Amino acid sequence: MQYDVVIIGSGPGGYTAAIRCAQLDMKTAIIEKYDTLGGTCLNVGCIPSKALLDSTEHFHNASSAFETHGIQLKDLKIDFKQMIKRKSEVVEQTVGGVKWLMDKNKITVFHGIGSFVDKNTIKVKKNDGGEEEITTKNTIIATGSKPASIPNVTIDKKRIITSTEALSLEKLPKSMIVIGAGVIGAEMGSVYARLGTEVTMVEYMDAMIPTMDKTMGKELFKALKKIGIKFNFSHKVLEVKSTTKQVTVKAENKKGEEVTFKAEYCLVATGRKPYTEGLGLENIGIKTDDRGRISVNEHLETSAAGVYAIGDVVEGLMLAHKAEEEGVFVAESIAGQKPHVNYLLIPNVVYTWPEVASVGYTEEEVKEKGIAHKIGTFPFRALGRARASMDLDGVVKVIASEETDEILGVHIIGARAADMIAAGVTAMEYRASAEDVSRMSHAHPTYMEAVKEACLAATANRPINI
Ligand code: FAD
Ligand code: NAI
Repeated sequence: MQYDVVIIGSGPGGYTAAIRCAQLDMKTAIIEKYDTLGGTCLNVGCIPSKALLDSTEHFHNASSAFETHGIQLKDLKIDFKQMIKRKSEVVEQTVGGVKWLMDKNKITVFHGIGSFVDKNTIKVKKNDGGEEEITTKNTIIATGSKPASIPNVTIDKKRIITSTEALSLEKLPKSMIVIGAGVIGAEMGSVYARLGTEVTMVEYMDAMIPTMDKTMGKELFKALKKIGIKFNFSHKVLEVKSTTKQVTVKAENKKGEEVTFKAEYCLVATGRKPYTEGLGLENIGIKTDDRGRISVNEHLETSAAGVYAIGDVVEGLMLAHKAEEEGVFVAESIAGQKPHVNYLLIPNVVYTWPEVASVGYTEEEVKEKGIAHKIGTFPFRALGRARASMDLDGVVKVIASEETDEILGVHIIGARAADMIAAGVTAMEYRASAEDVSRMSHAHPTYMEAVKEACLAATANRPINI
């Protein structure tokens, strides 16, 4: 069988590319080495982490906020096994949905490891032991990423774990050290801190989520301290050792002193690395860069003509929706269209509570680029909606051009920021000015009023409700 396109990897990048190729009438096949489709995101990433974040936030509210709302609960208890079971069911349904989408779009699915024999021949080493070679005009590599470790730390998956194991622990831990106060650290740290686990973060930099706008990290730090997480910034981890019951983390603090932390588990959340093992890239002369990413040109095509790469395995943000956009981009490029991905407008979200969401330039970036700008902020605390729901922590920060008033960045920490950021993306996609947004009617009472007010503050320093 000759395919128009073969996709290796069925994460959000791969399966979205497959569907778009099929929609464009290309004979499409997808190869996935695991038994379920959906990749990191659906199996051990976005979906299970959000399922646990939702469950644990319910528990946290029930134990800390319900009484103030006038709801009395007796004998509130955590059934951790049930929580993990529900998470697994959500995953099962979601990955089943991808299988259904493949069938609906008449995409051939192979379960096995895909590798290049040459640029038009892919070998599939099937999970059932068999082997098959398929030929194709084009290939899209969408093999994603795996957790990365740091020097002197060996992940044993028992006590020294990654997010994958942290999503499926059998017992609620009493204590956990989290190395890295980035996105996974913040989200998984929140999951366990809300359930009463003593969570200690050890972070190399001097702030949380250091790649986002600094105001977001500062506010998130305050919010997560309230749920009991202990932070150790500017700490360089030297080594991690484990026994069957305990982990010991040695780190060096800012003063150069050695500090020791002990806990039941150590979650290593220090970033992810592109995954290209077993692909046979050497057989078609494809090179990876110093960070293991497959090098591609502006069409996301590798050095081998007709072989493309997308998602976590190439440069850029390691996000599901970035991989999806690239999947659509490559499918449409192969079909002869002229698609475009606006990388500046890919939003970034941290699903803590409050949530953090941002799009466009950060304050640090506009300063570094020397762009004349104005900043408008508005606190959630001043919103009637936030008082009604007791979600007072948070702020909206809008960055606009000093010269034209065009919105350059929107950064939100607060209740439902993850959904609110879509308004920032829309405004920036249509190159709205801060005044444009400030003159649109926003329903009252909503959290979105904070965006309107921050735009009023940015455009003319005239917020109404503060
Ligand atoms: P992946 O999803 O990694 O999929 C690659 C697939 O390729 C895998 O299934 C793998 O088995 C398969 N594969 C690899 N090699 C081969 C081979 N040789 N043959 C066959 N198959 C192969 N992003 C968000 O946007 N929002 C979130 O909320 C979010 N939460 C996350 C939470 C966690 C805990 C983690 C770890 C990640 C999270 N991410 C989130 C990141 C997101 O999961 C990734 O950016 C996304 O999955 C990347 O998609 P991808 O298609 O590039 O690769
Ligand atoms: P990250 O890059 O977000 O954070 C890693 C953190 O570890 C950084 O703060 C870094 O300074 C710190 N660090 C690195 N080396 C260290 C050391 N030796 N000692 C102490 N700290 C150290 O990576 P993370 O959290 O592992 O997530 C990986 C990827 O997964 C991210 O790129 C993210 O895009 C994606 N992801 C996205 C989510 C979302 O969109 N909500 C959720 C979870 C993951």
